[in-house]
Amino acid sequence: MAFPQNFLDELTARCDIVDVVGSYVQLTRKGSNLFGLCPFHSEKTGSFSVSPDKQIYYCFGCKRGGGVVNFIMEEENLPFPDAVRFLAKRAGLEVPEEEGDREAAFRRQRLLELNREAARFYHRLLLQPEGRDVRDYLDRRQIQKSTAVRFGMGASPDAWDTLLNAMTGLGYSKTELLTAGLIVDNKKGGFYDKFRNRLMLPVIDTRGDVVAFGSRVLDKSEPKYMNSTETPVYSKRRVLYGLNLAKKSKRPDILLCEGNLDIVTLHQAGFDNAVASMGTALTPEQIRLLSRFTKELVLCYDNDNAGKIATERALQLLNGSELSVKVLQLPRRRTADGELVKQDADDFIKNQGPAAFERLLSGSETGVEFRMAQIAGKYDLENDEQRVAYSEEISGLLSTLPGAVEREIYATRAAETARITPDAMKLEVQRARKRNIARENRAVLRKELNPAAQSQPKERSLRYENLRSARAEEGVLRLLLLDDGLFSQEAPLTEADFSSPLLGRVFSLLWQAKEEGRTTALPALAAELSAEEMNHVTAVCQRPESVRNGRQALADYIRVIQEASKKRSGGTPDPLLAAAEKYKDKKGEKRNDS
Ligand code: CTP
Ligand code: MN
Repeated sequence: MAFPQNFLDELTARCDIVDVVGSYVQLTRKGSNLFGLCPFHSEKTGSFSVSPDKQIYYCFGCKRGGGVVNFIMEEENLPFPDAVRFLAKRAGLEVPEEEGDREAAFRRQRLLELNREAARFYHRLLLQPEGRDVRDYLDRRQIQKSTAVRFGMGASPDAWDTLLNAMTGLGYSKTELLTAGLIVDNKKGGFYDKFRNRLMLPVIDTRGDVVAFGSRVLDKSEPKYMNSTETPVYSKRRVLYGLNLAKKSKRPDILLCEGNLDIVTLHQAGFDNAVASMGTALTPEQIRLLSRFTKELVLCYDNDNAGKIATERALQLLNGSELSVKVLQLPRRRTADGELVKQDADDFIKNQGPAAFERLLSGSETGVEFRMAQIAGKYDLENDEQRVAYSEEISGLLSTLPGAVEREIYATRAAETARITPDAMKLEVQRARKRNIARENRAVLRKELNPAAQSQPKERSLRYENLRSARAEEGVLRLLLLDDGLFSQEAPLTEADFSSPLLGRVFSLLWQAKEEGRTTALPALAAELSAEEMNHVTAVCQRPESVRNGRQALADYIRVIQEASKKRSGGTPDPLLAAAEKYKDKKGEKRNDS
Protein backbone atom coordinates (compact mmCIF):
# COMPACT_ATOMS: atom_id res chain seq x y z
CA MET A 1 0.00 0.00 0.00
CA ALA A 2 1.11 3.45 -0.84
CA PHE A 3 0.74 5.47 2.36
CA PRO A 4 1.50 4.20 5.87
CA GLN A 5 -1.72 3.62 7.77
CA ASN A 6 -0.69 5.78 10.72
CA PHE A 7 -0.24 8.71 8.36
CA LEU A 8 -3.79 8.18 7.00
CA ASP A 9 -5.07 7.99 10.58
CA GLU A 10 -3.38 11.26 11.40
CA LEU A 11 -4.64 12.86 8.21
CA THR A 12 -8.26 11.85 8.76
CA ALA A 13 -8.03 12.93 12.40
CA ARG A 14 -6.69 16.35 11.40
CA CYS A 15 -9.19 16.97 8.60
CA ASP A 16 -12.52 17.34 10.29
CA ILE A 17 -15.31 16.25 7.97
CA VAL A 18 -17.45 19.25 8.89
CA ASP A 19 -14.64 21.69 7.96
CA VAL A 20 -13.75 19.96 4.73
CA VAL A 21 -17.30 19.41 3.47
CA GLY A 22 -18.31 22.80 4.84
CA SER A 23 -15.94 24.55 2.48
CA TYR A 24 -17.87 23.10 -0.49
CA VAL A 25 -21.42 22.75 0.81
CA GLN A 26 -23.49 25.01 3.00
CA LEU A 27 -24.45 22.91 6.00
CA THR A 28 -27.20 23.44 8.56
CA ARG A 29 -27.35 21.58 11.84
CA LYS A 30 -30.35 19.33 12.46
CA GLY A 31 -30.04 17.29 15.63
CA SER A 32 -26.68 15.59 15.85
CA ASN A 33 -26.09 15.75 12.09
CA LEU A 34 -25.64 18.52 9.53
CA PHE A 35 -27.54 18.71 6.27
CA GLY A 36 -27.06 20.43 2.92
CA LEU A 37 -27.64 20.15 -0.82
CA CYS A 38 -25.78 17.16 -2.23
CA PRO A 39 -22.81 18.26 -4.36
CA PHE A 40 -22.87 15.01 -6.33
CA HIS A 41 -26.36 15.20 -7.78
CA SER A 42 -28.62 18.17 -8.27
CA GLU A 43 -31.50 18.46 -5.87
CA LYS A 44 -33.74 21.10 -4.38
CA THR A 45 -34.07 19.79 -0.83
CA GLY A 46 -31.03 18.70 1.11
CA SER A 47 -30.65 14.96 1.49
CA PHE A 48 -26.90 15.17 2.05
CA SER A 49 -25.91 14.55 5.66
CA VAL A 50 -22.68 14.88 7.59
CA SER A 51 -22.11 13.16 10.90
CA PRO A 52 -19.45 14.85 13.05
CA ASP A 53 -19.53 11.90 15.49
CA LYS A 54 -18.84 9.25 12.89
CA GLN A 55 -16.85 11.62 10.64
CA ILE A 56 -18.76 10.48 7.59
CA TYR A 57 -21.02 12.02 4.95
CA TYR A 58 -23.94 10.23 3.34
CA CYS A 59 -26.48 11.27 0.72
CA PHE A 60 -29.90 9.69 1.10
CA GLY A 61 -30.66 10.67 -2.49
CA CYS A 62 -27.76 9.31 -4.52
CA LYS A 63 -26.50 6.97 -1.79
CA ARG A 64 -22.91 8.11 -1.97
CA GLY A 65 -20.96 8.27 1.23
CA GLY A 66 -17.63 7.94 2.96
CA GLY A 67 -15.05 9.85 4.93
CA VAL A 68 -13.04 13.00 4.11
CA VAL A 69 -10.79 11.31 1.58
CA ASN A 70 -13.75 9.85 -0.32
CA PHE A 71 -15.38 13.26 -0.32
CA ILE A 72 -12.36 14.90 -1.92
CA MET A 73 -12.02 12.06 -4.44
CA GLU A 74 -15.60 12.68 -5.58
CA GLU A 75 -15.69 16.43 -5.34
CA GLU A 76 -12.28 17.19 -6.85
CA ASN A 77 -12.46 14.26 -9.26
CA LEU A 78 -9.14 12.88 -7.98
CA PRO A 79 -7.79 9.34 -7.62
CA PHE A 80 -7.12 8.19 -4.06
CA PRO A 81 -3.42 9.15 -3.74
CA ASP A 82 -4.05 12.62 -5.17
CA ALA A 83 -6.98 13.18 -2.83
CA VAL A 84 -4.69 12.26 0.08
CA ARG A 85 -2.05 14.73 -1.11
CA PHE A 86 -4.72 17.39 -1.59
CA LEU A 87 -5.94 16.99 1.99
CA ALA A 88 -2.42 16.80 3.41
CA LYS A 89 -1.59 20.11 1.79
CA ARG A 90 -4.72 21.62 3.26
CA ALA A 91 -3.89 20.31 6.73
CA GLY A 92 -0.21 21.26 6.47
CA LEU A 93 0.95 17.65 6.80
CA GLU A 94 3.95 16.31 4.97
CA VAL A 95 3.17 13.26 2.84
CA PRO A 96 5.47 10.28 3.39
CA GLU A 97 5.69 9.30 -0.26
CA GLU A 98 6.98 5.97 -1.39
CA GLU A 99 9.58 6.17 -4.09
CA GLY A 100 7.25 4.63 -6.71
CA ASP A 101 4.37 7.00 -5.96
CA ARG A 102 6.51 10.05 -5.89
CA GLU A 103 7.75 9.06 -9.29
CA ALA A 104 4.27 8.44 -10.70
CA ALA A 105 3.03 11.80 -9.41
CA PHE A 106 6.11 13.47 -10.84
CA ARG A 107 5.64 11.81 -14.23
CA ARG A 108 1.99 12.93 -14.33
CA GLN A 109 3.03 16.45 -13.51
CA ARG A 110 5.65 16.36 -16.25
CA LEU A 111 3.07 15.17 -18.78
CA LEU A 112 0.77 18.05 -17.91
CA GLU A 113 3.65 20.49 -18.23
CA LEU A 114 4.62 18.96 -21.55
CA ASN A 115 1.06 19.34 -22.84
CA ARG A 116 1.04 22.94 -21.73
CA GLU A 117 4.37 23.61 -23.43
CA ALA A 118 3.10 21.96 -26.61
CA ALA A 119 -0.06 24.09 -26.52
CA ARG A 120 2.08 27.21 -26.08
CA PHE A 121 4.28 26.14 -28.96
CA TYR A 122 1.34 25.55 -31.33
CA HIS A 123 -0.26 28.79 -30.21
CA ARG A 124 2.90 30.81 -30.89
CA LEU A 125 3.16 29.28 -34.35
CA LEU A 126 -0.39 30.33 -35.13
CA LEU A 127 0.69 33.95 -34.89
CA GLN A 128 3.85 33.44 -36.96
CA PRO A 129 4.39 32.95 -40.71
CA GLU A 130 4.18 29.16 -40.29
CA GLY A 131 0.63 29.56 -39.04
CA ARG A 132 -0.55 31.26 -42.18
CA ASP A 133 -2.69 28.37 -43.54
CA VAL A 134 -4.39 27.82 -40.22
CA ARG A 135 -5.08 31.57 -39.85
CA ASP A 136 -6.65 31.53 -43.30
CA TYR A 137 -8.74 28.57 -42.31
CA LEU A 138 -9.95 30.36 -39.17
CA ASP A 139 -10.89 33.32 -41.35
CA ARG A 140 -12.87 31.08 -43.67
CA ARG A 141 -14.76 29.74 -40.67
CA GLN A 142 -15.25 33.27 -39.32
CA ILE A 143 -13.41 32.53 -36.10
CA GLN A 144 -12.08 35.75 -34.64
CA LYS A 145 -8.60 36.17 -33.21
CA SER A 146 -9.92 36.81 -29.71
CA THR A 147 -11.90 33.57 -29.88
CA ALA A 148 -8.85 31.64 -31.04
CA VAL A 149 -6.94 33.07 -28.09
CA ARG A 150 -9.71 32.27 -25.60
CA PHE A 151 -9.64 28.63 -26.70
CA GLY A 152 -5.84 28.55 -26.80
CA MET A 153 -5.94 27.40 -30.44
CA GLY A 154 -2.78 26.68 -32.33
CA ALA A 155 -1.22 25.60 -35.59
CA SER A 156 0.79 22.44 -36.12
CA PRO A 157 3.21 23.01 -38.99
CA ASP A 158 3.35 20.97 -42.18
CA ALA A 159 6.52 19.11 -41.15
CA TRP A 160 7.53 15.83 -39.51
CA ASP A 161 9.48 16.82 -36.44
CA THR A 162 8.94 20.45 -35.47
CA LEU A 163 7.22 19.69 -32.18
CA LEU A 164 9.56 16.76 -31.50
CA ASN A 165 12.59 19.03 -31.80
CA ALA A 166 11.10 21.89 -29.85
CA MET A 167 10.03 19.71 -26.93
CA THR A 168 13.21 17.62 -26.74
CA GLY A 169 14.96 20.98 -26.77
CA LEU A 170 13.05 21.86 -23.61
CA GLY A 171 14.28 18.68 -21.94
CA TYR A 172 11.37 16.30 -22.55
CA SER A 173 12.27 12.78 -23.60
CA LYS A 174 10.89 10.87 -26.58
CA THR A 175 9.26 8.47 -24.14
CA GLU A 176 7.43 11.35 -22.53
CA LEU A 177 6.31 12.66 -25.91
CA LEU A 178 5.10 9.17 -26.87
CA THR A 179 3.21 8.76 -23.59
CA ALA A 180 1.57 12.15 -24.13
CA GLY A 181 0.51 10.98 -27.60
CA LEU A 182 2.26 13.89 -29.28
CA ILE A 183 4.62 11.82 -31.41
CA VAL A 184 4.29 8.47 -33.17
CA ASP A 185 6.72 5.57 -33.44
CA ASN A 186 7.45 4.76 -37.12
CA LYS A 187 8.50 1.20 -36.12
CA LYS A 188 11.90 1.67 -37.75
CA GLY A 189 13.48 3.35 -34.79
CA GLY A 190 12.27 6.80 -35.74
CA PHE A 191 9.59 9.11 -34.48
CA TYR A 192 7.46 11.82 -36.04
CA ASP A 193 4.95 14.46 -34.94
CA LYS A 194 1.42 13.11 -34.66
CA PHE A 195 -0.28 16.41 -35.51
CA ARG A 196 0.82 18.01 -38.79
CA ASN A 197 -0.71 20.85 -40.77
CA ARG A 198 -3.75 21.04 -38.54
CA LEU A 199 -5.74 23.48 -36.49
CA MET A 200 -4.92 22.54 -32.91
CA LEU A 201 -7.63 22.59 -30.24
CA PRO A 202 -6.21 22.00 -26.76
CA VAL A 203 -8.57 20.15 -24.43
CA ILE A 204 -8.50 21.85 -21.05
CA ASP A 205 -10.12 20.29 -17.98
CA THR A 206 -12.02 22.17 -15.29
CA ARG A 207 -8.85 22.59 -13.24
CA GLY A 208 -7.23 24.41 -16.16
CA ASP A 209 -4.79 21.65 -17.11
CA VAL A 210 -4.16 20.92 -20.79
CA VAL A 211 -4.98 17.21 -20.81
CA ALA A 212 -5.15 16.47 -24.54
CA PHE A 213 -5.53 17.87 -28.05
CA GLY A 214 -8.21 17.78 -30.68
CA SER A 215 -7.25 18.85 -34.18
CA ARG A 216 -8.85 19.48 -37.55
CA VAL A 217 -7.51 19.28 -41.10
CA LEU A 218 -7.61 22.45 -43.17
CA ASP A 219 -9.10 20.87 -46.28
CA LYS A 220 -11.39 18.01 -47.17
CA SER A 221 -8.91 15.23 -46.46
CA GLU A 222 -9.34 12.49 -43.89
CA PRO A 223 -9.34 12.02 -41.01
CA LYS A 224 -11.17 15.29 -40.47
CA TYR A 225 -10.59 15.26 -36.75
CA MET A 226 -7.69 13.68 -34.98
CA ASN A 227 -7.64 13.58 -31.19
CA SER A 228 -5.14 12.53 -28.55
CA THR A 229 -5.28 8.90 -27.52
CA GLU A 230 -5.99 8.03 -23.90
CA THR A 231 -2.99 8.89 -21.72
CA PRO A 232 -2.22 8.82 -17.98
CA VAL A 233 -3.66 12.35 -17.81
CA TYR A 234 -6.51 11.98 -20.30
CA SER A 235 -9.60 9.83 -20.32
CA LYS A 236 -12.09 11.06 -22.89
CA ARG A 237 -15.01 9.69 -20.87
CA ARG A 238 -14.28 12.20 -18.12
CA VAL A 239 -13.73 15.39 -20.07
CA LEU A 240 -15.97 17.78 -21.99
CA TYR A 241 -14.54 20.19 -24.51
CA GLY A 242 -15.21 23.80 -23.50
CA LEU A 243 -16.31 23.06 -19.93
CA ASN A 244 -13.30 24.99 -18.60
CA LEU A 245 -14.97 28.10 -20.06
CA ALA A 246 -18.64 27.09 -19.77
CA LYS A 247 -18.28 26.53 -16.01
CA LYS A 248 -17.83 30.31 -15.64
CA SER A 249 -20.84 31.21 -17.78
CA LYS A 250 -23.59 33.36 -16.28
CA ARG A 251 -26.20 31.41 -18.19
CA PRO A 252 -28.16 29.03 -15.94
CA ASP A 253 -27.91 25.97 -18.17
CA ILE A 254 -25.26 24.08 -20.13
CA LEU A 255 -25.62 23.30 -23.82
CA LEU A 256 -24.27 19.93 -24.90
CA CYS A 257 -23.32 19.70 -28.58
CA GLU A 258 -21.46 17.28 -30.79
CA GLY A 259 -18.59 19.12 -32.36
CA ASN A 260 -15.59 21.11 -31.19
CA LEU A 261 -16.05 23.89 -33.69
CA ASP A 262 -19.76 24.16 -32.85
CA ILE A 263 -18.59 25.06 -29.36
CA VAL A 264 -16.21 27.67 -30.68
CA THR A 265 -18.88 29.32 -32.84
CA LEU A 266 -21.42 29.22 -30.04
CA HIS A 267 -19.07 30.84 -27.53
CA GLN A 268 -18.18 33.50 -30.06
CA ALA A 269 -21.89 34.21 -30.57
CA GLY A 270 -22.42 34.69 -26.84
CA PHE A 271 -23.46 31.14 -25.89
CA ASP A 272 -20.53 30.64 -23.58
CA ASN A 273 -22.31 27.75 -21.84
CA ALA A 274 -21.71 25.29 -24.69
CA VAL A 275 -19.65 22.09 -24.30
CA ALA A 276 -19.05 19.03 -26.48
CA SER A 277 -18.20 15.40 -25.86
CA MET A 278 -15.65 15.09 -28.65
CA GLY A 279 -17.21 12.51 -30.94
CA THR A 280 -18.26 10.06 -28.20
CA ALA A 281 -21.61 9.21 -26.62
CA LEU A 282 -22.37 10.94 -23.33
CA THR A 283 -20.99 8.99 -20.35
CA PRO A 284 -22.13 8.76 -16.71
CA GLU A 285 -18.82 10.36 -15.70
CA GLN A 286 -19.59 13.37 -17.89
CA ILE A 287 -23.08 13.65 -16.42
CA ARG A 288 -21.64 13.79 -12.93
CA LEU A 289 -19.12 16.36 -14.05
CA LEU A 290 -21.89 18.48 -15.59
CA SER A 291 -24.09 18.27 -12.53
CA ARG A 292 -21.33 19.95 -10.52
CA PHE A 293 -21.83 23.09 -12.60
CA THR A 294 -25.48 23.19 -13.59
CA LYS A 295 -28.96 21.94 -12.85
CA GLU A 296 -30.21 22.15 -16.41
CA LEU A 297 -28.81 20.55 -19.51
CA VAL A 298 -29.87 21.34 -23.08
CA LEU A 299 -29.06 18.64 -25.63
CA CYS A 300 -28.19 20.05 -29.02
CA TYR A 301 -27.28 17.12 -31.21
CA ASP A 302 -27.44 17.02 -35.00
CA ASN A 303 -30.89 16.79 -36.49
CA ASP A 304 -30.37 13.51 -38.33
CA ASN A 305 -31.00 9.90 -37.47
CA ALA A 306 -27.72 9.42 -35.63
CA GLY A 307 -28.33 12.61 -33.66
CA LYS A 308 -31.81 11.47 -32.66
CA ILE A 309 -30.54 8.12 -31.46
CA ALA A 310 -27.81 9.90 -29.50
CA THR A 311 -30.44 12.18 -27.95
CA GLU A 312 -32.65 9.27 -26.92
CA ARG A 313 -29.63 7.47 -25.40
CA ALA A 314 -28.59 10.59 -23.53
CA LEU A 315 -32.15 11.09 -22.24
CA GLN A 316 -32.22 7.54 -20.93
CA LEU A 317 -28.86 7.94 -19.25
CA LEU A 318 -29.93 11.27 -17.76
CA ASN A 319 -33.17 9.81 -16.45
CA GLY A 320 -31.89 9.02 -12.99
CA SER A 321 -29.56 12.00 -12.74
CA GLU A 322 -31.88 14.74 -11.47
CA LEU A 323 -30.45 17.18 -13.99
CA SER A 324 -33.42 18.68 -15.77
CA VAL A 325 -33.05 18.09 -19.48
CA LYS A 326 -34.26 19.89 -22.59
CA VAL A 327 -33.75 19.14 -26.25
CA LEU A 328 -32.95 21.81 -28.77
CA GLN A 329 -33.74 20.61 -32.28
CA LEU A 330 -32.01 22.44 -35.06
CA PRO A 331 -34.24 22.84 -38.10
CA ARG A 332 -33.06 21.38 -41.39
CA ARG A 333 -32.04 23.73 -44.10
CA ARG A 334 -33.36 23.80 -47.67
CA THR A 335 -30.58 23.97 -50.24
CA ALA A 336 -30.74 25.85 -53.54
CA ASP A 337 -32.01 22.70 -55.29
CA GLY A 338 -34.75 22.26 -52.72
CA GLU A 339 -33.14 19.43 -50.78
CA LEU A 340 -33.53 19.36 -46.97
CA VAL A 341 -30.15 18.95 -45.24
CA LYS A 342 -29.08 18.85 -41.63
CA GLN A 343 -27.20 21.77 -40.17
CA ASP A 344 -25.23 21.83 -36.95
CA ALA A 345 -25.09 24.69 -34.44
CA ASP A 346 -22.17 26.22 -36.29
CA ASP A 347 -24.05 26.21 -39.64
CA PHE A 348 -27.22 27.50 -38.01
CA ILE A 349 -25.56 30.46 -36.33
CA LYS A 350 -23.85 31.35 -39.58
CA ASN A 351 -27.08 31.06 -41.57
CA GLN A 352 -29.59 32.52 -39.13
CA GLY A 353 -27.60 34.46 -36.56
CA PRO A 354 -27.37 34.37 -32.75
CA ALA A 355 -30.82 35.87 -32.13
CA ALA A 356 -32.48 33.01 -34.02
CA PHE A 357 -30.44 30.54 -31.97
CA GLU A 358 -31.49 32.27 -28.77
CA ARG A 359 -35.13 31.78 -29.85
CA LEU A 360 -34.51 28.09 -30.51
CA LEU A 361 -32.88 27.79 -27.12
CA SER A 362 -35.73 29.40 -25.21
CA GLY A 363 -38.20 27.31 -27.19
CA SER A 364 -36.38 24.03 -26.65
CA GLU A 365 -38.59 21.10 -25.92
CA THR A 366 -38.64 19.21 -22.70
CA GLY A 367 -37.37 15.65 -22.80
CA VAL A 368 -41.02 14.48 -22.83
CA GLU A 369 -41.89 16.50 -25.90
CA PHE A 370 -38.93 15.07 -27.71
CA ARG A 371 -39.89 11.52 -26.79
CA MET A 372 -43.53 12.11 -27.75
CA ALA A 373 -42.44 13.26 -31.18
CA GLN A 374 -40.20 10.21 -31.52
CA ILE A 375 -43.07 7.87 -30.63
CA ALA A 376 -45.45 9.67 -32.99
CA GLY A 377 -42.91 9.22 -35.76
CA LYS A 378 -43.09 5.43 -35.42
CA TYR A 379 -46.79 5.14 -36.29
CA ASP A 380 -48.89 5.78 -39.34
CA LEU A 381 -51.63 7.83 -37.71
CA GLU A 382 -53.92 7.49 -40.71
CA ASN A 383 -54.36 3.84 -39.81
CA ASP A 384 -56.85 3.09 -37.00
CA GLU A 385 -54.98 0.12 -35.60
CA GLN A 386 -51.78 2.14 -35.46
CA ARG A 387 -53.59 4.99 -33.71
CA VAL A 388 -54.61 2.55 -30.99
CA ALA A 389 -51.02 1.31 -30.69
CA TYR A 390 -49.75 4.90 -30.59
CA SER A 391 -52.23 5.77 -27.82
CA GLU A 392 -51.07 2.80 -25.78
CA GLU A 393 -47.39 3.58 -26.10
CA ILE A 394 -47.82 7.28 -25.45
CA SER A 395 -50.05 6.76 -22.40
CA GLY A 396 -47.35 4.49 -21.00
CA LEU A 397 -44.83 7.30 -21.35
CA LEU A 398 -47.16 9.99 -19.95
CA SER A 399 -48.18 7.84 -16.98
CA THR A 400 -44.61 8.03 -15.68
CA LEU A 401 -44.69 11.84 -15.37
CA PRO A 402 -44.81 12.85 -11.72
CA GLY A 403 -46.98 16.00 -12.04
CA ALA A 404 -50.75 15.87 -12.62
CA VAL A 405 -50.72 19.14 -14.57
CA GLU A 406 -47.91 17.89 -16.79
CA ARG A 407 -49.82 14.69 -17.48
CA GLU A 408 -52.98 16.62 -18.33
CA ILE A 409 -51.23 19.01 -20.71
CA TYR A 410 -49.32 16.37 -22.61
CA ALA A 411 -52.28 13.99 -22.70
CA THR A 412 -54.35 16.68 -24.37
CA ARG A 413 -51.61 17.18 -26.92
CA ALA A 414 -51.25 13.47 -27.56
CA ALA A 415 -55.03 13.22 -28.02
CA GLU A 416 -54.81 15.79 -30.79
CA THR A 417 -52.10 13.78 -32.49
CA ALA A 418 -54.09 10.56 -32.24
CA ARG A 419 -57.32 12.39 -33.15
CA ILE A 420 -59.21 11.02 -30.17
CA THR A 421 -60.98 12.99 -27.44
CA PRO A 422 -58.77 14.36 -24.64
CA ASP A 423 -60.95 12.50 -22.14
CA ALA A 424 -60.25 9.17 -23.78
CA MET A 425 -56.50 9.84 -23.72
CA LYS A 426 -56.59 10.99 -20.10
CA LEU A 427 -58.44 7.82 -19.19
CA GLU A 428 -55.75 5.75 -20.91
CA VAL A 429 -53.03 7.60 -19.01
CA GLN A 430 -54.91 7.14 -15.74
CA ARG A 431 -55.23 3.41 -16.37
CA ALA A 432 -51.55 3.08 -17.16
CA ARG A 433 -50.78 5.05 -14.03
CA LYS A 434 -52.93 2.77 -11.90
CA ARG A 435 -51.10 -0.20 -13.33
CA ASN A 436 -47.77 1.42 -12.44
CA ILE A 437 -48.91 2.22 -8.92
CA ALA A 438 -50.23 -1.29 -8.39
CA ARG A 439 -46.91 -2.67 -9.58
CA GLU A 440 -45.02 -0.37 -7.21
CA ASN A 441 -47.27 -1.26 -4.31
CA ARG A 442 -46.65 -4.93 -4.90
CA ALA A 443 -42.93 -4.26 -4.84
CA VAL A 444 -43.21 -2.25 -1.62
CA LEU A 445 -45.32 -4.95 -0.04
CA ARG A 446 -42.79 -7.58 -0.95
CA LYS A 447 -40.13 -5.44 0.67
CA GLU A 448 -42.19 -4.93 3.82
CA LEU A 449 -42.86 -8.61 4.14
CA ASN A 450 -39.14 -9.12 3.93
CA PRO A 451 -37.63 -6.18 5.80
CA ALA A 452 -34.13 -7.50 5.40
CA ALA A 453 -34.39 -6.84 1.67
CA GLN A 454 -34.17 -3.16 2.42
CA SER A 455 -30.60 -3.55 3.45
CA GLN A 456 -29.59 -5.24 0.21
CA PRO A 457 -26.70 -3.30 -1.30
CA LYS A 458 -27.30 -1.67 -4.67
CA GLU A 459 -24.13 -3.09 -6.22
CA ARG A 460 -24.67 -6.59 -7.50
CA SER A 461 -21.20 -7.73 -6.49
CA LEU A 462 -21.95 -6.77 -2.88
CA ARG A 463 -25.31 -8.61 -2.64
CA TYR A 464 -25.90 -10.48 0.59
CA GLU A 465 -26.12 -14.27 0.53
CA ASN A 466 -27.69 -14.55 3.95
CA LEU A 467 -29.78 -11.54 4.89
CA ARG A 468 -30.37 -12.47 8.52
CA SER A 469 -26.70 -12.91 9.19
CA ALA A 470 -25.75 -9.85 7.12
CA ARG A 471 -28.02 -7.60 9.17
CA ALA A 472 -26.35 -8.83 12.34
CA GLU A 473 -22.95 -8.28 10.71
CA GLU A 474 -23.94 -4.73 9.91
CA GLY A 475 -24.99 -4.28 13.54
CA VAL A 476 -21.59 -5.47 14.77
CA LEU A 477 -19.78 -2.92 12.59
CA ARG A 478 -22.09 -0.09 13.68
CA LEU A 479 -21.56 -0.88 17.35
CA LEU A 480 -17.77 -1.13 17.04
CA LEU A 481 -17.61 2.16 15.18
CA LEU A 482 -19.83 3.91 17.73
CA ASP A 483 -18.12 2.65 20.87
CA ASP A 484 -14.58 1.36 20.76
CA GLY A 485 -14.99 0.18 24.36
CA LEU A 486 -16.77 -2.80 22.82
CA PHE A 487 -13.53 -4.25 21.42
CA SER A 488 -12.38 -7.12 23.63
CA GLN A 489 -9.00 -8.80 24.09
CA GLU A 490 -9.78 -11.55 21.64
CA ALA A 491 -11.83 -11.04 18.48
CA PRO A 492 -15.19 -12.80 19.01
CA LEU A 493 -15.53 -13.60 15.29
CA THR A 494 -13.26 -14.41 12.40
CA GLU A 495 -13.53 -12.89 8.98
CA ALA A 496 -14.80 -16.24 7.69
CA ASP A 497 -17.74 -16.14 10.10
CA PHE A 498 -19.17 -13.26 8.10
CA SER A 499 -21.57 -14.20 5.32
CA SER A 500 -20.73 -10.95 3.52
CA PRO A 501 -17.08 -10.86 2.44
CA LEU A 502 -17.08 -7.05 2.48
CA LEU A 503 -18.45 -6.73 6.01
CA GLY A 504 -16.02 -9.42 7.15
CA ARG A 505 -13.12 -7.54 5.63
CA VAL A 506 -14.15 -4.30 7.33
CA PHE A 507 -14.48 -6.16 10.62
CA SER A 508 -10.96 -7.54 10.45
CA LEU A 509 -9.55 -4.18 9.33
CA LEU A 510 -11.14 -2.52 12.35
CA TRP A 511 -9.92 -5.23 14.68
CA GLN A 512 -6.43 -5.03 13.28
CA ALA A 513 -6.41 -1.26 13.78
CA LYS A 514 -7.49 -1.73 17.38
CA GLU A 515 -4.77 -4.29 18.04
CA GLU A 516 -2.17 -1.95 16.60
CA GLY A 517 -3.42 0.81 18.85
CA ARG A 518 -4.69 2.93 15.95
CA THR A 519 -8.00 4.74 15.61
CA THR A 520 -10.93 2.60 14.61
CA ALA A 521 -12.90 4.85 12.29
CA LEU A 522 -14.40 4.51 8.86
CA PRO A 523 -12.61 7.45 7.16
CA ALA A 524 -9.22 5.83 7.69
CA LEU A 525 -10.32 2.80 5.65
CA ALA A 526 -10.55 4.83 2.44
CA ALA A 527 -7.38 3.21 1.10
CA GLU A 528 -8.75 -0.32 1.52
CA LEU A 529 -12.21 0.01 0.00
CA SER A 530 -13.44 0.82 -3.49
CA ALA A 531 -15.87 3.70 -3.95
CA GLU A 532 -18.83 1.30 -4.20
CA GLU A 533 -17.72 -0.59 -1.11
CA MET A 534 -17.29 2.66 0.81
CA ASN A 535 -20.74 3.88 -0.27
CA HIS A 536 -22.25 0.69 1.03
CA VAL A 537 -20.38 0.55 4.32
CA THR A 538 -21.24 4.22 4.95
CA ALA A 539 -24.91 3.52 4.24
CA VAL A 540 -24.74 0.73 6.81
CA CYS A 541 -23.03 2.88 9.40
CA GLN A 542 -25.26 5.92 9.14
CA ARG A 543 -28.28 3.85 10.14
CA PRO A 544 -29.33 4.31 13.78
CA GLU A 545 -28.01 1.91 16.39
CA SER A 546 -28.36 2.25 20.13
CA VAL A 547 -25.19 1.87 22.15
CA ARG A 548 -27.03 1.87 25.43
CA ASN A 549 -27.13 -1.90 25.75
CA GLY A 550 -24.18 -2.22 23.42
CA ARG A 551 -22.60 -5.25 25.04
CA GLN A 552 -25.83 -7.23 25.03
CA ALA A 553 -26.68 -6.18 21.47
CA LEU A 554 -23.20 -7.19 20.33
CA ALA A 555 -23.56 -10.60 21.96
CA ASP A 556 -26.93 -11.10 20.25
CA TYR A 557 -25.55 -10.17 16.87
CA ILE A 558 -22.56 -12.45 17.33
CA ARG A 559 -24.85 -15.36 18.19
CA VAL A 560 -26.85 -14.89 14.96
CA ILE A 561 -23.68 -14.70 12.90
CA GLN A 562 -22.15 -17.79 14.49
CA GLU A 563 -25.31 -19.81 13.98
CA ALA A 564 -25.35 -18.94 10.29
CA SER A 565 -21.65 -19.60 10.01
CA LYS A 566 -22.00 -23.05 11.61
CA LYS A 567 -24.85 -23.91 9.28
CA ARG A 568 -22.70 -22.93 6.34
CA SER A 569 -19.76 -25.07 7.33
CA GLY A 570 -21.90 -27.89 8.81
CA GLY A 571 -24.26 -28.52 5.93
CA THR A 572 -21.54 -29.12 3.37
CA PRO A 573 -23.22 -28.63 0.03
CA ASP A 574 -20.61 -30.55 -1.92
CA PRO A 575 -21.69 -34.24 -2.03
CA LEU A 576 -18.12 -35.42 -2.57
CA LEU A 577 -16.93 -33.59 0.50
CA ALA A 578 -19.89 -34.91 2.46
CA ALA A 579 -19.04 -38.47 1.47
CA ALA A 580 -15.43 -37.95 2.47
CA GLU A 581 -16.63 -36.58 5.81
CA LYS A 582 -18.75 -39.72 6.42
CA TYR A 583 -15.91 -42.00 5.48
CA LYS A 584 -13.66 -40.31 8.03
CA ASP A 585 -16.37 -40.66 10.69
CA LYS A 586 -16.75 -44.37 10.01
CA LYS A 587 -13.04 -44.95 10.25
CA GLY A 588 -13.10 -43.12 13.56
CA GLU A 589 -15.89 -45.39 14.84
CA LYS A 590 -14.04 -48.52 13.85
CA ARG A 591 -10.95 -47.43 15.58
CA ASN A 592 -12.95 -46.71 18.69
CA ASP A 593 -14.53 -50.15 18.49
CA SER A 594 -11.32 -52.04 18.39
N1 CTP B 1 -14.98 13.67 -34.65
C1 CTP B 1 -13.84 12.92 -34.42
N2 CTP B 1 -13.24 12.25 -35.45
C2 CTP B 1 -13.76 12.32 -36.70
C3 CTP B 1 -14.91 13.05 -36.95
C4 CTP B 1 -15.50 13.73 -35.88
O1 CTP B 1 -13.36 12.86 -33.30
N3 CTP B 1 -13.14 11.68 -37.70
C5 CTP B 1 -15.59 14.37 -33.51
C6 CTP B 1 -15.04 15.77 -33.40
O2 CTP B 1 -14.93 16.12 -32.04
C7 CTP B 1 -16.10 16.59 -34.10
C8 CTP B 1 -17.36 15.84 -33.75
O3 CTP B 1 -16.99 14.49 -33.71
O4 CTP B 1 -16.10 17.92 -33.66
C9 CTP B 1 -18.48 16.05 -34.72
O5 CTP B 1 -18.10 15.64 -36.00
P1 CTP B 1 -18.71 16.25 -37.34
O6 CTP B 1 -20.16 16.49 -37.16
O7 CTP B 1 -18.23 15.42 -38.46
O8 CTP B 1 -17.90 17.57 -37.48
P2 CTP B 1 -18.18 19.09 -37.16
O9 CTP B 1 -18.00 19.34 -35.74
O10 CTP B 1 -19.38 19.60 -37.83
O11 CTP B 1 -16.89 19.63 -37.86
P3 CTP B 1 -16.68 20.76 -38.91
O12 CTP B 1 -17.77 21.73 -38.71
O13 CTP B 1 -15.34 21.25 -38.51
O14 CTP B 1 -16.66 20.10 -40.23
MN1 MN C 1 -19.80 21.55 -38.48
